[in-house]
Amino acid sequence: PLTSKTTEDDFLEIGECNIKDLVEKFGSPLYILDEKTLRTSCKQYRDNFKLYYKGSSQVIYASKAWSCLSVVGIIATENLGFDVVSGGEFHTVQIAMSKLGYSEIEIANRVYFHGNNKSLDELELAIKANCNIVVDNWLELQNLVELGSCLPEKSIRILLRLTPGIECHTHEYIKTGHVNSKFGFNLNDFETVINYVIKQKVLNCRGLHSHIGSQIFEKQPHRDLAFILVKLLKKSQELGLTLSELNIGGGLGISYTSDDNPPSIEEWVKNVSESVMEACLDSNLSFPKLIAEPGRSLIGSAGVTAYTVGSRKEIPGLHTYLAIDGGMSDNPRPITYQSLYSILIGNKMSEKITETFIIAGKHCESGDIIIKDAQLPQTHTGDILVVMGTGAYNYSMASNYNRIPRPAAVLVNHGEANLIVRRETYDDLVKQDCLPQRLLPNCI
Ligand code: LLP
Repeated sequence: PLTSKTTEDDFLEIGECNIKDLVEKFGSPLYILDEKTLRTSCKQYRDNFKLYYKGSSQVIYASKAWSCLSVVGIIATENLGFDVVSGGEFHTVQIAMSKLGYSEIEIANRVYFHGNNKSLDELELAIKANCNIVVDNWLELQNLVELGSCLPEKSIRILLRLTPGIECHTHEYIKTGHVNSKFGFNLNDFETVINYVIKQKVLNCRGLHSHIGSQIFEKQPHRDLAFILVKLLKKSQELGLTLSELNIGGGLGISYTSDDNPPSIEEWVKNVSESVMEACLDSNLSFPKLIAEPGRSLIGSAGVTAYTVGSRKEIPGLHTYLAIDGGMSDNPRPITYQSLYSILIGNKMSEKITETFIIAGKHCESGDIIIKDAQLPQTHTGDILVVMGTGAYNYSMASNYNRIPRPAAVLVNHGEANLIVRRETYDDLVKQDCLPQRLLPNCI
């Protein structure tokens, strides 16, 4: 995070809060979110679109990266919108924004509802709230028309999600724009879809959307995407439907280790803006409203996770395991995508690096390894191990595997730390469980 530094007594400080105090007060493991870093990246996206794009623009946060009331609240006050992919994410935005005093109309205008298999309930929720719906497939189009026909006055604002056939270099599981992706309409169907949409009075189709993948470092794929989407805007115009919005998705990567070298937010925005404008000039189109929906690059670097070191197992001649009090339930990314992270010992910031460890989680799986070769100073039970860059897709992908309660999350800024997600208790773990009467002993 931007605000991290080392204190005189060698502790990590984030948002002017000492890591030791945070762990003592809020427990371990602990998600820590630096408000300043989050607000700064929101501002960088916003201001750079204003600087580089000569049409209107809107940045919407892909809330799947981390959705909770405080995160949504902060981002709403930074004037960003929201990409939601489920009724639950939408509900979180509705509650957070209405608590902050935003009107229903303001909330609706800022929300884009995504998903490749939205349920009828979710579609109804989105229609009733009047938000923007990013339509993924034929079934959804038909469902919308059907649901809309029961509400004669309704005009449902939609965007069409397309599969542009663009490959990018990222993990197999987080590519989305390739031809055989599960997301979006294939380009071959474009004409038929537009002709269908034109005929549906209840649909107010405003634009096109595409998202090609996540943790992307190259610039060319988004440039190619801009040209493809603008050509399709043109085609749609020729077919009789003028579209005014172009949503280019998210995908900018962040630096997890010193080997990662992603473009800055400014470079990404500049590339996307210039590509869209160039493509529009080529096609003789006026600049559409340009929407981008970053997740990881907005919040990833703003978060760290603090763990406490537990057991240490040395296997002579092989390696030494260092076990932490969390693992794949609070950060499933290493086991899912073989993701790499940087770590440090938060109470020994300037000690010399002398040892190599495997950092193991506490779950009952040999694969629950957070880092395979961590270079650290001498580290022992009770030390605070900090994993950097955990702001995106950690809290939001956490589980209760092994019935482990999810950690608390705190927001830090100017020396103040506020709880934003309470630590789960053992009672929380059984709260949703039901025990049918007939299983109780006096009924057997
Ligand atoms: N828009 C759409 C339609 C998306 O599907 C996504 C991410 C985004 C925007 C935001 O992408 P970002 O800017 O964060 O790259 N769980 C995986 C990442 C999955 C991303 C899914 N979609 C991970 O932990 O790496």
